[in-house]
Amino acid sequence: MKKIRVAIAGLGRLGRVHAENLAFRIPNAELCAVCAQTEDSLNWARERLDICACYQDFAEMLAKETPDAVVLVTPSDLHCEQIELALDAGVHVFFEKPLGTDPARCAATQAAAEQHPELVCMPGFMRRYDKSYVYAKHQIDSGAIGTPYMMKCTGIDPESAIEGTLRVTGSFGGIFMDLGIHDVDLMRWLLGCEPAQVHAVGTTVKYPAFREGGDYETAAALYQFTNGAIGMAHAGRCSPYGYHVETEIIGTEGTLRISGVPAKNLTQLYKGNGAATECVGSFQERFEEAYLAEVQEFVDCVCENRRPAVTMEDAVKATVIAHAAGQALRSGEIIKL
Ligand SMILES: NC(=O)c1ccc[n+]([C@@H]2O[C@H](COP(=O)([O-])OP(=O)(O)OC[C@H]3O[C@@H](n4cnc5c(N)ncnc54)[C@H](O)[C@@H]3O)[C@@H](O)[C@H]2O)c1
Repeated sequence: MKKIRVAIAGLGRLGRVHAENLAFRIPNAELCAVCAQTEDSLNWARERLDICACYQDFAEMLAKETPDAVVLVTPSDLHCEQIELALDAGVHVFFEKPLGTDPARCAATQAAAEQHPELVCMPGFMRRYDKSYVYAKHQIDSGAIGTPYMMKCTGIDPESAIEGTLRVTGSFGGIFMDLGIHDVDLMRWLLGCEPAQVHAVGTTVKYPAFREGGDYETAAALYQFTNGAIGMAHAGRCSPYGYHVETEIIGTEGTLRISGVPAKNLTQLYKGNGAATECVGSFQERFEEAYLAEVQEFVDCVCENRRPAVTMEDAVKATVIAHAAGQALRSGEIIKL
């Protein structure tokens, strides 16, 4: 079996998930080096992953380790620069969403990737690799719900993780760029169409730190697509009961609903006061298999010299749309796309 040497940058909330997958669950990858800013994260990698090649400087890691590929799970405002450094070094790149926080900078990075058609440059939109969303996509494509004309999306981070959410708010581009971008990508993918305009509102009720940081705790965006379809997307930061990701796609002949209840598993507990379903607790738990599947696909693409279905164009378009939603949120105006 062909095996590639993969380095990772970023060992935070999601980076550790990808790092463990690369080290233990992806047979055609060898995790050869890690990069993070804190000694704590590097010590975690030494102990948990048995990795000796630990760096605090990304360019130094590329130069000294010459990996075949790199997985970027660093703060969102660093992705563009790090992608370009990797491509210039002849290294394939998988990067977490979003591509960046500034659409013009993202377009420049797309142009840089186009200069390297020999390299895979893959965005991480893991919901496209989740079994339920893949199933929904097949249903839509086979005509099961007729013509889809509305999508209702909910994405609320768990309050139990509020400390981490507040910590990253400043450098991750705001609620729509950081969180709502998943629904932007899903709407484009499942409706097969682009939004023509967006209007948005937001509020902060429980954690004033979001307002003080120039962001919102909760926001809702209303999109109209060029074919007339409607997208309603609710993004939130502090669900008291768990990690709530729910999607409804309504068509002329039927409706698809994914995670109507964001259940942890298929178990219900029946007791004196009723029947209860525990909710899934975190993004790491809900999308565990999708995070593995997307990076497995990236590694397979590199090994087999093919290109992933999700493209740089998808990454740039999602960033432009999420940025427009943020503008709509701050200005109160309808933003045309
Ligand atoms: N797909 C998803 O569901 C999902 C979920 C969470 C995060 N993300 C994305 O993953 C990325 C990281 O998010 P997170 O929540 O894990 O962040 P985090 O703050 O928990 O971790 C960031 C990591 O990057 C490292 N880092 C910071 N500056 C660096 C630099 N200059 N060079 C190398 N490493 C550096 C930090 O030391 C840390 O290990 C973000 O882009 C975020 O949008 C995606």
